[in-house]
Amino acid sequence: MKGFAALQAEQRANAFKQANELKAYMEAALAQRLSEVSGASKSVAVDVTLPGSAVPQGRLHPVTQTMDAILACFIPMGFEIADGPELEFEYYNFDALNIPRDHPSRESFDTFFVDAPSPQPQKGRLLLRSHTSPVQIRVMERRKPPLRIVVPGKVFRPDPLDAGHSFMFHQVEGLMVDDRTSFADLKGVLEQFLAALFGPGTKTRFRPHFFPFTEPSAEVDLACASCRGGGCSTCGQKGWVEIMGCGMVHPNVFKAVGYDANKVQGFAFGLGVERIAMLKHGIKDIRLFFENDLRFLEQF
Ligand code: DAH
Repeated sequence: MKGFAALQAEQRANAFKQANELKAYMEAALAQRLSEVSGASKSVAVDVTLPGSAVPQGRLHPVTQTMDAILACFIPMGFEIADGPELEFEYYNFDALNIPRDHPSRESFDTFFVDAPSPQPQKGRLLLRSHTSPVQIRVMERRKPPLRIVVPGKVFRPDPLDAGHSFMFHQVEGLMVDDRTSFADLKGVLEQFLAALFGPGTKTRFRPHFFPFTEPSAEVDLACASCRGGGCSTCGQKGWVEIMGCGMVHPNVFKAVGYDANKVQGFAFGLGVERIAMLKHGIKDIRLFFENDLRFLEQF
């Protein structure tokens, strides 16, 4: 209003009139709002401790969460993450892993063969990989030891769908190769992994087993979390649940990738991600992971 002094007399009077009206209006409005607000704080107080309304938020799929948790255990131990193709050659899925054609061990890996001509017939037919182990070969072909990798990925098997089987599921493969790597290293790494994932004090046992690509081989069992070893329906009365396969890399596997089996040693392991997620969360049916029912997914 100070600036009004510069105006012509007539304009000045008008400006003052309008400005005063505006001032009165604003003062009245402010006074009214102040009395409303101060009244409110005395009577119907705003409860600032009430929870706000939730903002809908997306989340990671439980299989992804479990996969991330598994990989996170290996990163501090110096493992890097590698991957390979889901559409694979017979050579990588079988031959290079010491699973010869016509060998009965091939039958334990039921496989989806792809009905298309192979772009590299010397590597055999095309298939959907039935495990993540072929990535061991692909990485060793390209790189020299020492190596420490973990490989997450989808695998496929023509199993009829039921509570325990799905034609697609996820695995994490591991491989460590160095000039001196022993079964004790394998046990140490896997025990540390299982303690990190399932909590310290988790009971495990290594049981002799057979895999064509490792020698010696073992399966790792976890003391059943439902019955703590006593035997129940979750563990089929055994007290233990099998959770992974492992072993010392077979010399024929090293030969296939051009490593000198007399100079390097290594261990490998493979586990099913859905199986781990089911054990961790007490989920009884693998199909729940793939039905995209929000009532299930929103619990994670
Ligand atoms: N590839 C095996 C399977 O799918 C799992 C496995 C067992 C992987 C032993 C390994 C291993 O690397 O050493 O049943």
